[in-house]
Amino acid sequence: MLNFSYAQRIRHLIKRLPYAEDFYNFLNTVFSPTYTEDGMRVTKNCAFLHDPSFNQAYDALLKQAPGTKTRWRAHITQWAGFYASKLRGDFVETGVYKAAFSSSIISYINFQTLTDRKFYLFDTYSGLVEDLISPNEGAAYKHDYEDTYQFVIDSFKAYPNVIIVRGIVPDSLATVDIRQVAYLSVDMNSAKPERAALEHFWPKLVDGGIVVLDDYLFPGRELQQESADEFAESVGTKILSVPTGQGILIKI
Ligand SMILES: C[S@@+](CC[C@H](N)C(=O)[O-])C[C@H]1O[C@@H](n2cnc3c(N)ncnc32)[C@H](O)[C@@H]1O
Repeated sequence: MLNFSYAQRIRHLIKRLPYAEDFYNFLNTVFSPTYTEDGMRVTKNCAFLHDPSFNQAYDALLKQAPGTKTRWRAHITQWAGFYASKLRGDFVETGVYKAAFSSSIISYINFQTLTDRKFYLFDTYSGLVEDLISPNEGAAYKHDYEDTYQFVIDSFKAYPNVIIVRGIVPDSLATVDIRQVAYLSVDMNSAKPERAALEHFWPKLVDGGIVVLDDYLFPGRELQQESADEFAESVGTKILSVPTGQGILIKI
């Protein structure tokens, strides 16, 4: 005890009281959070926020979608992209909008230097498809997406290995001959096309290949989560729940 500072002593004493640890954590989270984006308020060491390579790649995200506050989600996709770059196979994103996350990954791993890889970006580039939205997919799914096709084409003019595929998922999936996939992002805010993308690409995913389900734990998106869980079970695996709301699936 003698070596303890007063603050440490008080913390030590408080922690011995009933419920004190919960209360202490509550106070810490309320008054000294280290991160307050992505629906989280946490007190963890967020060293990645100070990593220049993270910040440079996050700037690429902000260039596509200014004002976006989702650094931990971006960190996870950057990491997943880095991990996938060590495997063989192409990168695929289904649900691109303004290509915020994909731009961030492309910047983080200098995707243009991976000349034997392609990054396929699948989207209608004009929003969700009414016929594919089930009656139980409620208000959380209603969002007006403006036409971003030309914007995304212009964004990747200088990237010959980024391939923009306009069309409705699932119909558009078979229009491109993709044989091996290392990274798959599923972010269409809609259970049916997301399930179709999982079923289409899973057999093409290399061993160890990674899938990021962007909306997995988002409130109001339970149909997407249930459908993804059902898919994971059908292929004998499980999805990792991430506090950001993402789900991670690795082909083992
Ligand atoms: C949440 S946004 C994607 C956000 C994106 N991942 C990012 O980095 O910001 C959802 C996108 O899914 C697309 N989408 C929804 N249903 C689709 C479908 N059936 N086929 C193709 N694209 C679809 C929409 O057009 C929209 O751009």
